[in-house]
Amino acid sequence: MQEIIEELERRREAAKLGGGQERIDAQHARGKLTARERVDVLLDQGSFEEWDIFVEHRSTDFDMANKVVPGDGVVTGYGTINGRMVFVFSQDFTVLGGSLSEAHAGKICKIMDHAMKVGVPVIGLNDSGGARIQEGIDSLAGYAEVFQRNVLASGVIPQISMIMGPCAGGAVYSPAMTDFIFMVKDTSYMYVTGPEVVKTVTHETVTHEELGGANTHSTRSGVADGAFDNDVEALLSLRRFVDFLPLNNRSECPRRKVDDPADRIETSLDTLVPSNPNQPYDMKELIYKVVDVGDFFELQPDYAGNIVIGFGRVDGSTVGVVANQPMVLAGCLDIQSSVKAARFVRFCDAFGIPIVTFVDVPGFLPGTTQEYGGIIRHGAKLLYAYAECTVPKITVITRKAYGGAYDVMASKHLRGDVNLAWPSAEIAVMGSKGAVEIIFRQEMGDPDKIAARTEEYQQTFANPFIAGHRGFIDDVILPRDTRRRISRSLDMLRGKQLSNPWRKHGNIPL
Ligand code: HXC
Repeated sequence: MQEIIEELERRREAAKLGGGQERIDAQHARGKLTARERVDVLLDQGSFEEWDIFVEHRSTDFDMANKVVPGDGVVTGYGTINGRMVFVFSQDFTVLGGSLSEAHAGKICKIMDHAMKVGVPVIGLNDSGGARIQEGIDSLAGYAEVFQRNVLASGVIPQISMIMGPCAGGAVYSPAMTDFIFMVKDTSYMYVTGPEVVKTVTHETVTHEELGGANTHSTRSGVADGAFDNDVEALLSLRRFVDFLPLNNRSECPRRKVDDPADRIETSLDTLVPSNPNQPYDMKELIYKVVDVGDFFELQPDYAGNIVIGFGRVDGSTVGVVANQPMVLAGCLDIQSSVKAARFVRFCDAFGIPIVTFVDVPGFLPGTTQEYGGIIRHGAKLLYAYAECTVPKITVITRKAYGGAYDVMASKHLRGDVNLAWPSAEIAVMGSKGAVEIIFRQEMGDPDKIAARTEEYQQTFANPFIAGHRGFIDDVILPRDTRRRISRSLDMLRGKQLSNPWRKHGNIPL
């Protein structure tokens, strides 16, 4: 028996070396952790149970029979993050560049299937040269098996991708179908075709980093939800992030005990909105002052800054926050911000996370760039997402809520449950100046008359009371009371039941 145990240990230790010490050293020299080290940082100490460490590929072409490494380039299994179960796969770049073979894909599919059965998230740590070239169609088939599972798991269990090395070709489409993509700066990149192909086809010269680095995807394309400085920061942030999420679409978000009174009064919020309606202010200040202990996990912080999205907690329970940001483009909705927020709203809805919306929006961004780019279709995504969603929706209008954007931003008419406004709210079809220029065009030659008309329009509509008369907002509240009112509303809405009519699926304007 002793010999058998020793043989088992020997095999296990050999498998743990992956592609060998030299390649591990090379991985470290690049500032990257190995696949197993990453799992260790991500999961609670000692909680990881590895599966399929002895799985090997069976291909023989191109001398592959002599390139067999137990585990076949991916570490898979389950463990806990702050005591809550997750399944993980971590690609091992030291084994044939972490390339995906039939066997490698089979291991990923196995944990995805189990995660679906037991209802827990799947976290993928991606570091791979893509399809294993020596295997040809078998590796492509492997990818497609993963893709299919990504789609079936969507909206059932959270799926999170951390890109920690190359991710190229069709391989990018598995992360793309997960709920969140994070990247590590300087060591990870994602693109459909690499710089060499780009050069051949479009004659553009571009580096890996420019084409698909973390900076590109977190600031320009919006593909990534966040970028971190190194592996350790990325994995520790992922631990913090997972804490906000429910395990699956039927379980509740974890409720945390917090040392932050739900009825905390924030007097400083009374002076947040400047008296000049055209002066910006930082909406994030409101968010940080409303959520528990100022703990807000912002997503896509450097992309489409005119809308802010992310997770926080109120009285210990997770909420999704969507907020117009007057500091960027005056908080206008444009193509990028609409798509950014729409996807987030749909995630929250799929996983039963209440949505708190802070509104200060002068409308949709005008212009040919927006129209030619399809703002009609893209803006409709946000409208559709809010209208479709059945989770508790609490809306606070801090200042402007103009035009179609008023309707879109979780208004009462889109089944907003609790719609509140600050005294500084202006709920109108448009700003006074624009309104007067249209309805009193014939008086434009007389500045005094126009000034008087503008003042009249301002007095009539630039307040929350007309909407209050109609019951379109439920109350006008003091800014200092915002956290308390949101918390009480969330308590009241805990038992909310609402469902949409039966259908195979709606047809969101994609
Ligand atoms: C087999 C691969 C591999 C692959 C890398 N390796 N990619 N083996 N299949 N796809 C191996 C290398 O041969 C090398 O083996 C080791 O991994 C490390 O690779 P290096 O090239 O030395 O590393 P580096 O210089 O860091 O470059 C990394 C890389 C490069 C940029 C990822 O390896 C590369 O361009 N690989 C090919 C990428 C690619 O075209 N993949 C197919 C994409 S198409 P040794 O033994 O020397 O250590 C695709 C389709 C998916 O994925 C379709 C889904 C629908």
